[in-house]
Amino acid sequence: MTDTTRVQEQYNTVRAIHLAAVAALGGFLFGYDTAVINGAVVALEADFEMGKTLTGFVVASALLGAAFGAWAAGKLADRYGRIKVMVAAAVLFVVSALGSGLAFSPLDLTFWRIVGGVGVGAASVIAPAYIAEISPASIRGRLGSLQQLAIVTGIFVALLVDTVLARTAGGAGEELALGLDAWRWMFLSLAVPGLAYGVLALTIPESPRYLVAQGHPDDARRVMGEVLTSGVDARIAEIQRTVDADERTRSSFADLRGSLLGLQPIVWVGILLSVFQQAVGINVIFYYSSALWQQVGFSEADSLTITVITSVTNIVVTLVAIAFVDKVGRRVLLLIGSAGMFLSLGTLAVVFGTAPVQGGEPVLGDTAGMVALIAANLFVVFFGASWGPVVWVLLGEMFSNRIRAAALGLAAAAQWVSNFVISQSFPSLADVGLALAYGIYTAFAFVSFFFVLKFVKETKGRQLEDME
Ligand code: GLC
Repeated sequence: MTDTTRVQEQYNTVRAIHLAAVAALGGFLFGYDTAVINGAVVALEADFEMGKTLTGFVVASALLGAAFGAWAAGKLADRYGRIKVMVAAAVLFVVSALGSGLAFSPLDLTFWRIVGGVGVGAASVIAPAYIAEISPASIRGRLGSLQQLAIVTGIFVALLVDTVLARTAGGAGEELALGLDAWRWMFLSLAVPGLAYGVLALTIPESPRYLVAQGHPDDARRVMGEVLTSGVDARIAEIQRTVDADERTRSSFADLRGSLLGLQPIVWVGILLSVFQQAVGINVIFYYSSALWQQVGFSEADSLTITVITSVTNIVVTLVAIAFVDKVGRRVLLLIGSAGMFLSLGTLAVVFGTAPVQGGEPVLGDTAGMVALIAANLFVVFFGASWGPVVWVLLGEMFSNRIRAAALGLAAAAQWVSNFVISQSFPSLADVGLALAYGIYTAFAFVSFFFVLKFVKETKGRQLEDME
């Protein structure tokens, strides 16, 4: 513990929120980009005459790009800075929006979705790193949760835009304007937030941790002074100390000692947090729910409405996490989340497993349909108030200064790969049986509880310099 940790921090809340919010815009694009395809999927399938497997691949291809983007962004951020990576991600978003909107074949579309995915992945690493690095320790969890708030707002806006465009055209596969179908406008609309992100990123300063590591302590002091109103010099000295200390141990074997496959245990904890966050199947809800609700008996319009309601629920419960993350801490939220997800996912598995089957699909009666709806939304409530935001907060803050960008990049890449595996496998799993799919997610929720109990350390209120 350093002296500055014990002294009550004083900070400029408005400036801190401002910087964090701009970085979190990357999260908005992340949510928007990954969810926008939800409303386009059925029309795409028809237009390009695709089967289930190909559709699953087109939906999931952006995630592979994201895994690459996340992995690369960590290293690039250490080399060129956090801001340059944000701007590069924004350029990729805009280019991908135009390419996807004007795509003429599944292959072409897949390519542009991957390009956008690289931007998504990069943004998913830069936002938590930058936010953690500019945040006063006592509100770091809240500011870090802005990333999730932005992600789920992005999901919501994407679904809303999808709905409005589809309704205006009379269906996602109908012509809307300039001879282009509504689904094309869904992708084109991504260019607007992409542009805004790129321009706004140019208005915020570099992260003080990056500046110190690059040998610019005076610039770092100036940026830190915009956020902290006391103890700036001590903070910078502390960062400098960790940077110097890390430099000395860089080439030693200390980093590898007791490690598995050459990685420090803490890096594995980050990777597994990511894997569990995805393996409970949250994105199956956001990428496929319209199709899911239709399959079990709801009309197309009702299914879209349900999906939109679910995404609003997700936004609202993120506020719960923001209220509690710096008070009760990260661990408690994760544990409550795991328990709640286990119960709600288990309910879904049972409901789908016991429904009568007609023409190969389970058909839910009124009561069972209601139970499934409530359970699915409770699942989103528990996820959204815990694992959704908290994993991003932890990934931003749990690693030491020297390894942060790279370790976060790797953990986030693991998250995108898991997201890919889960969303790619869902259509086939669902063909075998929805009960099987939800049974698997239930099992992961169960294991995640014990993983947190045993391996996740509390980081609430600690300085980044103490995460060694
Ligand atoms: C988290 C996940 C993301 C998911 C979102 C939904 O941010 O990382 O994949 O879409 O939560 O709430």
